[in-house]
Amino acid sequence: MQTIDASYSSIPSAASARIVTVSASRTYDVIVGQNLLADAGRYLRRVVSPASAVIVADNCVAPLYSHIVAASLEAEGIRVLPYVFPQGEASKNPNELFRLLEFLAENAVTRTDLIIALGGGVTGDLTGFAASIYLRGTAFVQIPTSLLAAVDSSVGGKTAVNLEAGKNLAGSFFQPHLVLCDTDTLATLPSREFACGMAEVIKYGVLSDAALFQLLEQEDARNHLDSVISRCVAIKKDLVMADEFDTGSRQLLNLGHTLGHAVEKYSHFQISHGQAVAIGLSAVARCAYAAGLTKEDCAGRIESVLTRYGLPVHCDYPIRELCQIILKDKKRTGETIRLAIPRRIGDTFLYSMPVNGLEEFFSHTNV
Ligand code: NAD
Ligand code: GLY
Repeated sequence: MQTIDASYSSIPSAASARIVTVSASRTYDVIVGQNLLADAGRYLRRVVSPASAVIVADNCVAPLYSHIVAASLEAEGIRVLPYVFPQGEASKNPNELFRLLEFLAENAVTRTDLIIALGGGVTGDLTGFAASIYLRGTAFVQIPTSLLAAVDSSVGGKTAVNLEAGKNLAGSFFQPHLVLCDTDTLATLPSREFACGMAEVIKYGVLSDAALFQLLEQEDARNHLDSVISRCVAIKKDLVMADEFDTGSRQLLNLGHTLGHAVEKYSHFQISHGQAVAIGLSAVARCAYAAGLTKEDCAGRIESVLTRYGLPVHCDYPIRELCQIILKDKKRTGETIRLAIPRRIGDTFLYSMPVNGLEEFFSHTNV
């Protein structure tokens, strides 16, 4: 589908919105601001011209926001097909994927129609994957409503469902046509989910934005949502544009995730993704300094900002078993594994480590 007119100047909410443009296999805008949902139809019309749009949302987000998006699409003459699925990670599976695909086919959705993911990362990943394979690719827009989806999953084109053997094992790279991040929606996000998103926000600060990290230390991120989210998106944009298909520098985004995923799995997902990333982020900073891989000890600052946003920085799981889980992870390459390591706040590097050195590395301090 062609870009029609990417100027938003006639749309009232655009005046105060921030726009980050991602140029990957598709070029698209990420618009971050307030009161965007009510103008969704007008934003969409600038980039796509569908006759019909499917709004995919889970059963928590649908009653909160689907009608606002639907009304704005209908005002633009777009026929709306709402689709609702059960909330939660358990829905990110092949059965839900095929249920959605059958719905698209039964309703004769065509390649010039539009599929919208309205919700958190589960909705975005499931819907994005469906859009990427339905009719070999159908126009797709992300409207993130969780902080995690706003700063991470809605941008960059990774889509997936989980298989019995593990998370995100079936998926595709499929960039959206537009990302519309209305920060007003975060007002209804439960605080546990907000904290999950904050783990990723803090990760971006450690990764490459010392000023953002300092803001998170000194102020309440809730009072600066538009600016914080757009800064995170800009960092992710640079990494996606440099390495869309995740063979090199994009792996810096895994900072805190290597151990984090193992903690999440070992807990049978009782520890949330964000909590696990927080544990992984502080552990990798502590261990890298203790192992002499970095000269500056930034773990204390990382721990205190994570704690400030209600996130844990330790767990008492056995490191040997966590390392066994890491070694089965899809991030391993042959006999080495790449870890993202903070050199200092705002500066992180990738370090290739032999897999048999991993347990010793994470034994440098208590995880
Ligand atoms: P989620 O989509 O399950 O949302 C979390 C919960 O918050 C859900 O119950 C949802 O209904 C609710 N919710 C969402 N927005 C709300 C709102 N505004 N008000 C009230 N409730 C709201 O999970 P998530 O944390 O957003 O995303 C996690 C998923 O994202 C995981 O599956 C993960 O693998 C994936 N992910 C993908 C990428 C990527 O690049 N594609 C990156 C990071 C994470
Ligand atoms: N969430 C990591 C990535 O998009 O690469």
